[in-house]
Amino acid sequence: MSDSDSNSPIPMLEIRNIKRDYVVPGGFLKKEKIIHAVKGVSFTLEKGKTLAIVGESGCGKSTLARILTFIDEPTAGELLIDGKTVDTRPGHLSAQMRRKVQIVFQNPYGSLNPRQKIGDVLGEPLAINTGLSSAERRERAMDMLVKVGLGPEHYNRYPHMFSGGQRQRIAIARALMLNPKLLVLDEPVSALDLSVQAQVLNLLSDLQEEFGLTYVFISHDLSVVRHIADQVMVMYYGEAVEYGRRDAVFANPQHAYTRTLFAATPQADVASIRARLARKQERQPA
Ligand SMILES: Nc1ncnc2c1ncn2[C@@H]1O[C@H](COP(=O)(O)OP(=O)(O)OP(=O)(O)O)[C@@H](O)[C@H]1O
Ligand SMILES: [Mg+2]
Repeated sequence: MSDSDSNSPIPMLEIRNIKRDYVVPGGFLKKEKIIHAVKGVSFTLEKGKTLAIVGESGCGKSTLARILTFIDEPTAGELLIDGKTVDTRPGHLSAQMRRKVQIVFQNPYGSLNPRQKIGDVLGEPLAINTGLSSAERRERAMDMLVKVGLGPEHYNRYPHMFSGGQRQRIAIARALMLNPKLLVLDEPVSALDLSVQAQVLNLLSDLQEEFGLTYVFISHDLSVVRHIADQVMVMYYGEAVEYGRRDAVFANPQHAYTRTLFAATPQADVASIRARLARKQERQPA
């Protein structure tokens, strides 16, 4: 969304023919099965831009997200971050590379420890990865709370004391604590109400501009994709059946699956959703 680094010749992220197979062990009278979750996907993503990945359930979006964030290893293919080939084998990844890429999941509640105060949630990555004192960590965490639209008063609260939208803000804050360059967002607003979705999308857009972040944004909602993406990739059974600039993909989908997907989705964008909500609020008596 921001153009800050768009003159840089080195893409933030490039993947070449990435594949991921899963071996599902057999059982009594059942043969072992191989699932080809991702079947040779390639793309290039410039700094400061957003690539949206869309596709139906089970098409391999989260598998790809886990590979991009080093949680899972590809079976084959190449991954380049900031022009450097990443050695994805366990134990070969540098701490510096790990810090550059962070992930935000759909359900922040699942990834937040219920017994950990928000201040500790945000301070933990700093405690593990930096030599900052506890006072410095506290200050950074307080600053980040403000940046994601919360406040220092939330520092000592526990995850259950927040709404879904606020918890997603905390998950985003945690992902940003180590100044990453690339954020992989796996359905970050899918579990939220429409009005809250728009707020979190706006926040992501502001943060992208402020920190020059590059986003891989996974979604099954085309109206959200239309709103946030510079590039779009449509996945279908582990393959990228569509990939290009957002406007080109929306104007002229090449693959039959994409045309069905577009036809099945109401053509509403987030701006119109927001405008409608504003009108609704105006009509409601104070
Ligand atoms: N650890 C695993 N072991 C075996 N199979 C797996 C594993 N992880 C994913 N799969 C399979 O790989 C395929 C892709 O799954 P993935 O979670 O990437 O889909 P997705 O596009 O994120 O779906 P959704 O929209 O439902 O989140 C599915 O068939 C899934 O069952
Ligand atoms: Mg998924």
